[in-house]
Amino acid sequence: MSSKKTILYQGKAKKIIKGPDRHTLIQFFKDDATAFNKKKHKLFKGKGVLNNLISAFIMTYLKSKKVPSHFVKRINDREQLIRKCEIIPIEFVTRNVVAGSIAKKLGLKEGTKLKKPLLEYYYKEDKLDDPMISRDHVVAFGWATASEIKKIDKMSLEINRYLKMLFIKKGIVLIDFKIEFGRLASNPKKIVLADEISPDSCRLWDKKSNQKLDKDVFRRNLGSLMKAYEEVASRLGIMH
Ligand code: TMP
Ligand code: ASP
Repeated sequence: MSSKKTILYQGKAKKIIKGPDRHTLIQFFKDDATAFNKKKHKLFKGKGVLNNLISAFIMTYLKSKKVPSHFVKRINDREQLIRKCEIIPIEFVTRNVVAGSIAKKLGLKEGTKLKKPLLEYYYKEDKLDDPMISRDHVVAFGWATASEIKKIDKMSLEINRYLKMLFIKKGIVLIDFKIEFGRLASNPKKIVLADEISPDSCRLWDKKSNQKLDKDVFRRNLGSLMKAYEEVASRLGIMH
């Protein structure tokens, strides 16, 4: 089977392979970690396996909460079967606590709790370093309709609530996360959660120590990325 795989898209940390039928694809998790739009790049043996397991676990959990997603099932250590969709070219970021780019941009202290979740949009375009945009930009340039954005905002807040609940039970605070959405190829009116949810795309801090259990470990050279990701997998009960 592997000799016949057709790669349709090479991303930084994943690749998309032709699926078994016209409405499905295979999402393959690579070991690459990149930061600052690939200015920093390193391979971590086994990271793809961990992110595949963690993301599949989270997508399954969200499915049990009736959040529609592209996720069908995990096929093996590296691959997931997903429903084909047209990805909306926006990174949807939800923040509960000040960290990362917002701390830097606005001169705020990392760790400051926000009064309510903050939704942000970034235009997915590596050449422009994924600039932050407003909701009006999304609609003005036709990346999504006003009604799609309304649906997505609602879904983002719902996903935030479920993820916060999931992680806090494991002693982890969900600081922020980035998600993507798409329109199902089989039914373009249907907006679904796509891509992945993993320590690559979330900020996760240990509740007691504030220790970082996410890609900031790599971005900021804070120690072993694999140990941090393994800790997340182990707390979620995926890996012992
Ligand atoms: P930021 O603070 O750097 O804007 O990141 C916000 C959240 O989005 C954080 O959880 C990391 C995640 N993220 C990605 O998944 N991909 C990216 O390209 C960036 C910049 C952030
Ligand atoms: N995803 C971005 C990159 O690949 C940056 C990041 O996650 O910090 O470089």
